[in-house]
Amino acid sequence: MAELDWGRLGFAYVPTEYRYVSRYKDGAWDEGALVTDANITLSECACVFQYCQACFEGLKAFRTKDGDVVCFRPDQNAKRMVDSAKRLVMPPFPEDRFVDAVKQLVLANKDMVPPYGTGASLYIRPFMIGTNPVIGVKPATEFEFRMFCTPVGAYFKGGATPVAVKVSDFDRAAPHGTGHIKAGLNYAMSLYQTELAHHEGYAENLYLDPATRTKVEETGGANFIFITKDGKLVTPKSGSILPSITRRSLMYVAQHYLGMEVEEREVYFSELEDFAEAGLCGTAAVISPVGRIHDHGRDILLPSGMEEVGPVIKKLYDTYVAIQHAQIEAPEGWILKIC
Ligand code: PLP
Ligand code: COI
Repeated sequence: MAELDWGRLGFAYVPTEYRYVSRYKDGAWDEGALVTDANITLSECACVFQYCQACFEGLKAFRTKDGDVVCFRPDQNAKRMVDSAKRLVMPPFPEDRFVDAVKQLVLANKDMVPPYGTGASLYIRPFMIGTNPVIGVKPATEFEFRMFCTPVGAYFKGGATPVAVKVSDFDRAAPHGTGHIKAGLNYAMSLYQTELAHHEGYAENLYLDPATRTKVEETGGANFIFITKDGKLVTPKSGSILPSITRRSLMYVAQHYLGMEVEEREVYFSELEDFAEAGLCGTAAVISPVGRIHDHGRDILLPSGMEEVGPVIKKLYDTYVAIQHAQIEAPEGWILKIC
């Protein structure tokens, strides 16, 4: 096991020894391999630099109490990356090869999977870029699929302490795509407003639907879940938010492990003050409680408050994390044992 201060890791890049690379040329992916070079050398005119032809994924591997290493639902990331690739006119990386690359990568870097109980995990970042030179606006014909991993701690400072978010003055959707795929461009388009939010002391922006600006969509890096005063889980239904694997999994856990009622429906901003608890959910965020929502001079304070996570989200979080660490039995196919 590597010597790192595992309990103090934030969400930052710590290079690990191996990464997986496969290249696409003349209409086919090569066989792919683990490599040690963390750098990529490309033409200045590569499509990724000129027209941002890039998409990515994010998933995690965990150390169990017994010292095993497991990965959470990599098949779901493989599928979503196919959707992203198609939308960006890139050749999909085969789903079975994606899962196999996760296995190879995590196994090769197993010493960097943080110990059980530290709250840290190994974050895996697959991505794909258009690599050959293009100067007219058109897709590349050559691509690189790459997957690296890095040990991470909590995404938001303070871990389980609730965060404040603000309603963004901007729309989430990038002009050339929508939020339902993980395109680098969509994230680049939110950097400016995220910096503004951070500067004003907020952890994230809350994006409203661009058409009417009355419905809650998501934040820059996570979906929303809400808990009603009678203990129901409510989460926004929208075609332009990223279909979060965490959210999908939490809906299942809430219903089948905790016996909660679950509703995926349009959530109006005007309803927020009626909820008992709120959280941001995602691979990086896990479930980060939200205590306050700022809307142009007005604050909505959730009854669960800014001091500590509310009781329902706490129970959901504990159950979810126990499933991810193979401490309680997961639904069929959710846990891939690496070693
Ligand atoms: N929404 C956005 C914009 C994200 O970047 C993420 C992170 O991947 C999520 C939601 C959560 O998705 P997932 O649970 O699949 O990580
Ligand atoms: C993830 O949760 O994996 C993401 O891609 C979100 C990003 C903000 C780190």
